[in-house]
Order: sequence, then C-alpha cells, then structure tokens
Amino acid sequence: MSETEMVIPRHVAVIMDGNGRWALERGLKRTEGHREGRKATQRFMREADARGIGYVSLYAFSTENWSRPEPEVEALMGLIESALVAELEELCRNDVRMYWSGRREGLPAPMLRALDGAVAATADNRGMVLNLCVNYGGQIEIVDATKEIARKAVAGELDVEEIGPETVQQHLYVPEVPPVDLLIRPGGDLRISNFLLWQTAYAEFYVMPDYWPSFTGEHLDAAIADYNRRQRRFGGLVLVE
Ligand code: IPE
Ligand code: IPE
Ligand code: MG
Repeated sequence: MSETEMVIPRHVAVIMDGNGRWALERGLKRTEGHREGRKATQRFMREADARGIGYVSLYAFSTENWSRPEPEVEALMGLIESALVAELEELCRNDVRMYWSGRREGLPAPMLRALDGAVAATADNRGMVLNLCVNYGGQIEIVDATKEIARKAVAGELDVEEIGPETVQQHLYVPEVPPVDLLIRPGGDLRISNFLLWQTAYAEFYVMPDYWPSFTGEHLDAAIADYNRRQRRFGGLVLVE
C-alpha cells in the first residue's frame, strides 16, 4: 500500500517505555534515559501532527510508578513539569490542545500548576489533541468514574437503569477523547500496564523492540503501516463476496 492510501488512525496512544533500559545499555544512569525520552516525546508530537493524527495519548507517569525509588520519582516529576512549562509555547504555536488524565492526589503543587496551566492555556486551540497521562491509572480512572456515577444516582440525578457505556465514557477524566485506534508500546513488553483500560477496548496493539528514546518518524510509519494491514472486526464479520 502506498503512503497516500494509508488510513491514519484517529487516536494513537503510546506507552513511552524503555527509558531505563536504553540508558543502562549505554552505561548511563536511568535518569539520562528519561531525559532522552523527553526528546523522543517532542519528536513524536511533531511526527504525529505532520501525519494528521487527531488525538495522541501519552503515558508519562502511572499510579504504579510511585513505587520506584524516590530519586527517580523526583527526577521524573521534575522532567515532566519542566517540559510542560518549556513546551507550552510550542504547543500553542502548533495549535495543540492539551488535556490531562490523572488523579490530583499525590501530585506536588508545582506539577498541578503546570498541568492546569497548560490545559487552560491551550483550551482554545483547535489542532491536534494531546491527552497527557500523569499520575494516571486505568483502574483508578474507572473507580473515579464509578464513584461520580454512584453519587449522582444516590442524589437522584441519574436513573440506575439508564447507566450504560456512554454514562461511563462521560465520567472519564477526558470524555471528549475518542476510543484508541492504535496503541504503540516500545520496549518489547506485551502488556497494557494499567493504561487506558476503557478506551483501548478495540485498539490495535503495536509492540516494538526499540526503546522510547530511540523512537523516530520511521517507527511511527511502520506502526501505521502495520495498522493498515489489520482487519478491524469489532466483534462482527467481514463478509467476502
Ligand atoms: C518509561 O521508561 C518511563 C516511565 C515509566 C515513567 P522506564 O523507566 O519504565 O524504562 P524501563 O522499562 O525500566 O527500561
Ligand atoms: C508503563 O511503563 C508506564 C509508563 C510508561 C508511564 P512501566 O515501565 O511502568 O510498566 P511495567 O512496570 O513494565 O508494567
Ligand atoms: Mg518500563
């Protein structure tokens, strides 16, 4: 299939994994890997935008990542926060709208300021949508949605019999973001690691051996080409004449 005939997935999600291994294999500290990972994220944003992808979800810090040694957690927090501040201008220049998915509890005040600031500053942008997942867990997101739905049911604002998948969708952190079409995981691990559990119900998975810091536009093209070879059936049948 030629590049021009390629279907571009509307929503691409990435588990940005392998920073630590990338660094250790080069005799560097894990935090060096995270610094290179940040550059890969900038590259990915440009490459995704250039290909006309509408929505990108990026897994930057999971609710499970708090279990890492404190210095690494601090380094990650510092990196994410400074990237948000430093890159805000570029996000606006490129008309990118940023949403944040995650829990407020546990995040340091400067990080919350940076996240809230970026979301507010890009609210009028109408280009590519970035759903940045920080202190994010798929299970906790569904728990938070369930609590809110239960509260409304108890208050009589919502009829229990009317609860359906749409109700859950509307109570996720960012209800506007459509289902994931393509999920990319660098680093070779064949697992979801608590990422976008609801939104990936029918996502196509693309796992690649290379680590996130070495991600390029060529990897993205390979993922999109692979996506175009998949037959998405959504539980139905594709009938051949
Ligand atoms: C991904 O890289 C970054 C985060 C999880 C925040 P890792 O730090 O998990 O790198 P590996 O998987 O140990 O190589
Ligand atoms: C997933 O990677 C989380 C992020 C990339 C933010 P992990 O490295 O935390 O996942 P596991 O521990 O290998 O499942
Ligand atoms: Mg990892």
